[in-house]
Amino acid sequence: METRLRAIRADITTLAVDAIVNAANTTLLGGGGVDGAIHRAAGPELLEECRTLGGCATGDAKITRGYRLPAKHVIHAVGPVWRGGGHDEAALLASCYRRSLELAIAHNLQSIAFPSISTGAYGYPIEQAALVATKTVREVVARPGPLGEVIFCCFSASDLGVYERLLRASAI
Ligand code: AR6
Repeated sequence: METRLRAIRADITTLAVDAIVNAANTTLLGGGGVDGAIHRAAGPELLEECRTLGGCATGDAKITRGYRLPAKHVIHAVGPVWRGGGHDEAALLASCYRRSLELAIAHNLQSIAFPSISTGAYGYPIEQAALVATKTVREVVARPGPLGEVIFCCFSASDLGVYERLLRASAI
C-alpha cells in the first residue's frame, strides 16, 4: 500500500494516530515547546517511563506509550541544535526522521505525525528543515511497509505553507 504524506496545522497532542513524535532533548526528561505540551497532555506516567530510558543521543529516537494522549505511542526524537549548518545538522536531522520511522515500522504502526523537529528552540531554519524532513520520509516510505499515513503537523500557518509546497513538488 502506498503511504500518504500530508501536512496539517494542528496541536500535535490532539491527534489520534498510532504515534506522535516528540521533539525532545537528550535527557528525555521534558522541556518547553512541543515536548512540554506532550508531557502535560500525556500526564506524569510519561515522564516515569522516560526516566527508565537512559536518555537519547542526538539523531536517535526512543518509543514509549502515549498514556492520556489520544495517540497510542510517543516517539521521542532528539534533533540537532542549529549551529550554522556546518556541524552535521542536516545528517542528524535526517537521522531523527529515519530512526523514528524505523521504530514505527518495527512496531507495525500505521500512522505517525511529526512536528517540525529542531525548528523551534533549536533554531533550525524552517525551509531547510522541512526539505530534510520530506526528503527523508519519502526515501523511507518508498519501501513497502505498514505505514499508511505520515502527517507533518505544523504549528504555524507559515510552516504549513512551506510543507505544502514541498509535498506538492513531485520529486526532490
Ligand atoms: N504541536 C505541534 N507543534 C508544536 C507544538 C504543538 N503542541 N508546540 C510547539 N510546536 P520546539 P526543537 C512546534 O522548540 O526546536 C524543548 O524544550 C514549534 O512551533 O518544541 O526541536 C525540548 O525539550 C516548532 O515548529 O522543538 C528541547 O530542549 C516545533 O514544534 C528543545 O525544546 C519544534 O519546536 C527542542 O527544540
